[in-house]
Amino acid sequence: MVQANQKAGYFFVVGILILMVVGCSGPMNIKEDKQKYADKLDPASVQRGEVLYQNQCQLCHGESGQGDGPKAKELSQKPVNLMERGVHITRYGMRAIIDFPHYSPESLELRMKHGNDSMPTFKDRFTEQELKDITNYILTLLYP
Ligand code: HEC
Repeated sequence: MVQANQKAGYFFVVGILILMVVGCSGPMNIKEDKQKYADKLDPASVQRGEVLYQNQCQLCHGESGQGDGPKAKELSQKPVNLMERGVHITRYGMRAIIDFPHYSPESLELRMKHGNDSMPTFKDRFTEQELKDITNYILTLLYP
């Protein structure tokens, strides 16, 4: 019985330590990500991206990317909420960072290029620059 309590105590201490590490590193890394993505965006690109997004994506994904556009109800598949948050642990070299938004710039571009069942394929409709512009605009929604 004493041993079981000791074991429980050990797990408790380790748990607290893990929470402290995650708690301290999380917000700091999110801030770094924010700077990494949002502060370096070219305002002209963001502006072009906004026009493209409002013309080509808004209908399904909604004005602010939450998957609630006017056409969303008619589709068999719900357009995803591009603003969705999720915790992803990614590694950069020796450092593990917590990547906050669910969709990274790379995954946004990839999805636009290849589409999905109810999601159109935009590969032939947009230039590489236009794909970047839209991605940049979506990033400004993610990091207001
Ligand atoms: C005709 C409606 C429609 C339009 C227009 C549209 N989408 Fe989608 N999109 C969808 C649907 C439906 C899904 C969900 C597909 C799924 O869950 O497999 C989706 C999924 C996505 C995903 C996530 C895919 C994944 O695998 O998680 C991204 C990112 C995305 N759309 C971005 C965009 C962008 C950017 C545009 C504008 C260039 C756009 N979409 C235009 C309907 C649309």
